[in-house]
Amino acid sequence: MAEMSTLPRKEEEVDGVEKAVKTLEDTKAGIQGLVDAGIDKLPPFFFVSPEVIHDHPTMTDLHLHTDFQFPIIDLKDILDPAEHKGIVEKIRSASEEWGFFQVTNHGIPEQVLKEALDGVKRFNEQPREAKMTYYARGNGAVRYYTNYLLQKKGVGWRDTLACVMAPNPAPEKYPSVCRDIFMEYSKHVRKLGEVILGLLSEALGLDPDHLKDIGCSEGYAFHCQYYPACPEPDRTLGLMRHRDPDFFTVLLQNQIEGLQVLHRGYWVDVPPMEGALTINIGDLLQLVSNDKFKSADHRVLAKNVGPRMSLACLFTTDLQPSEKVYGPVEQLLSPDNPALYKGTTIPNYLKTYVTKPGNGLSVLKL
Ligand code: OGA
Ligand code: NI
Repeated sequence: MAEMSTLPRKEEEVDGVEKAVKTLEDTKAGIQGLVDAGIDKLPPFFFVSPEVIHDHPTMTDLHLHTDFQFPIIDLKDILDPAEHKGIVEKIRSASEEWGFFQVTNHGIPEQVLKEALDGVKRFNEQPREAKMTYYARGNGAVRYYTNYLLQKKGVGWRDTLACVMAPNPAPEKYPSVCRDIFMEYSKHVRKLGEVILGLLSEALGLDPDHLKDIGCSEGYAFHCQYYPACPEPDRTLGLMRHRDPDFFTVLLQNQIEGLQVLHRGYWVDVPPMEGALTINIGDLLQLVSNDKFKSADHRVLAKNVGPRMSLACLFTTDLQPSEKVYGPVEQLLSPDNPALYKGTTIPNYLKTYVTKPGNGLSVLKL
């Protein structure tokens, strides 16, 4: 969702980038609008410095290193008591080591996954006039924008459609080209989210309902990313390095690669896999788990093929001005494992996320 960089640009460059982005925003046509206009070079305000792009090496010889085998967890036998424990153990280890894993046999029909991505495609590929009315930042139920947080860094090569789906769905507000399938996908992803939360609770050694009962799956929003083929993919990124500002994310991606997770100091590709969904731990689960689970840095490379599309469902109560306070779960604490964070409300946490992009959590450290 948001972005962060390690190397700020110079002030005058930032001004230039902000102006260029503003001009692009005023078109309300997104990056797809540039593509439609037939550009064959990357406008310079998308340039991301090589130091940022290559901040860590990319792990390519994955098969040589068992430590770098991306975790894939089959949920088929989840109800079988003999298998259940082993699945929880895999979730625990992936959430501690990676903060990322893929699930197969998760119960959402492949046809629904395909149609959800078709909906994202239809939205982005309709004429500019139809998309413009949604062009907005802020807190609305539906927003279409180019980069959420514009700071001293770079501008990612992608457009985003964000729809708040729960706790208050607003079907009449969703774009008609994707409304029905979003409502359908929402039903499935809510169920899957609850299953995942149950497994995560058990993996923490808590009662299976614990995380659900404290409200971790009450609210969620779809963040649909659309990355057109990029004319100069090596000079920019699709989505800058960030951590997700939620409890956890269920990510559906199409078959074009680009997503990477930072693992043991290396960028590792998260392979697109037909029918699988990617789960990643967000900052808020790192906070309630008192750092047992890890909110991992991830990013998306720009590619010269496209469009790459993804639909990330962010489970959080964001956009709900709730006063509920989230802190490390008491049952997990002991004299040897004292609380590492102050409790926070979600709106307060989101404020720290925006002012300290990618690491709002550090502000909450005790
Ligand atoms: C996000 C995200 C990854 C992707 O939306 O937060 O990390 O594959 N998306 O687009
Ligand atoms: Ni993300």
